[in-house]
Amino acid sequence: MNPVSIYFIGKKQGVGLRRFRLSKLENRRHLEIEGFQDAFQYIRQVRFIKNADIIWVRARPEHTTDYDRKVIDKHLTKFRGTVPIINDINIFDNYDCKEITFNIWKNKNFQCPDYITLSIDKLKNQFSETVDEVNQFIKKNNKIFLRTNNETAANGMIFLTKYSSQAEIINAIDKLIKRCEKFLPKRSSTRLMCVEYIEPQDNNIQEIFRVHVLFNKILSFYAVNSKNIVFHNIDMTEYDISKFIKINKKFCSLMPELEKQIIDSVNAIGCKIAAVEFFIKDNKPIMLEINPMWGGHASQHGFGNNMFQKYLKDNKNKLKKDIPNVYWFMKKRLYYKKLYKSISSHCINTTIS
Ligand SMILES: Nc1ncnc2c1ncn2[C@@H]1O[C@H](COP(=O)(O)OP(=O)(O)O)[C@@H](O)[C@H]1O
Ligand SMILES: [Mg+2]
Repeated sequence: MNPVSIYFIGKKQGVGLRRFRLSKLENRRHLEIEGFQDAFQYIRQVRFIKNADIIWVRARPEHTTDYDRKVIDKHLTKFRGTVPIINDINIFDNYDCKEITFNIWKNKNFQCPDYITLSIDKLKNQFSETVDEVNQFIKKNNKIFLRTNNETAANGMIFLTKYSSQAEIINAIDKLIKRCEKFLPKRSSTRLMCVEYIEPQDNNIQEIFRVHVLFNKILSFYAVNSKNIVFHNIDMTEYDISKFIKINKKFCSLMPELEKQIIDSVNAIGCKIAAVEFFIKDNKPIMLEINPMWGGHASQHGFGNNMFQKYLKDNKNKLKKDIPNVYWFMKKRLYYKKLYKSISSHCINTTIS
């Protein structure tokens, strides 16, 4: 059987011949290219979109402007309905704007944090009414994030509680309006929102669960934990290791029960490939966000800080039975080979999706 032809489309790949260069692949992850090349029997990159059996839109959301979206959209118009497109740009807002993501999920009966969206126009013209809205939201939820709807890496997020003073709240709103105004000319879906803070379930240690889904199948999953209010995998230190092992073990045993819901949550957004993040309360997910282009610290370097990573490496033989999910995610070259092989099988086994 001939290998499947894939065409990558994204902002960074540029146009014309440069788009062929894998070194330009947007959000390239460590050993991804090597894994892709290992799958050469099954899948190869093509230079011209017209020769593609499948197209993968790899645009990093936070760097994608309205103009970029238009350009990508124009390139895709001819192929919709005939060539499968991974993460079509026409569902961009579904994952990029957190309030749209939450709204889609809520309509499909997924649990999400409570939220409200604040209109920038209203904030400018009826500032005190909007401050009242924020105050009421804080009163209802006790702890909240005031945040922009489309930033990553914890940018544009301010934690407010019922103990925050009016001056702190107004200052936070002012600060974030300025951020929004900076983004609005190029990213017109930018909004300000209030989101309920989901309390940790266990002794002030927050646990966040992350699953990578690829065409209705789970490719990998792991959980991270921290005492911090806002954190990512990179923030885990040696003090978090024992909890990390415990929750990943638990996650492995919960997975069969969660699997269908997780896959459905990704399908609801319209992504073919995505990382989805959630909390777990009473064995049920509370959805937090979806990233179509994962590639953060865990993908590049592994879990936690240097000591954390060393611990996992040194104790691999002892731990891999309990937390195989963690070690699978770190087997990068093989992991990406599997990812690309799965894209190829999907193409061969389905007519169009
Ligand atoms: N509603 C929430 N409740 C509790 N913690 C949250 C909530 N929203 C965000 N966080 C914390 O902030 C971090 C970053 O928020 P997130 O929405 O995942 O944006 P990003 O990962 O793109 O920076 C999360 O990893 C989590 O630690
Ligand atoms: Mg996140």
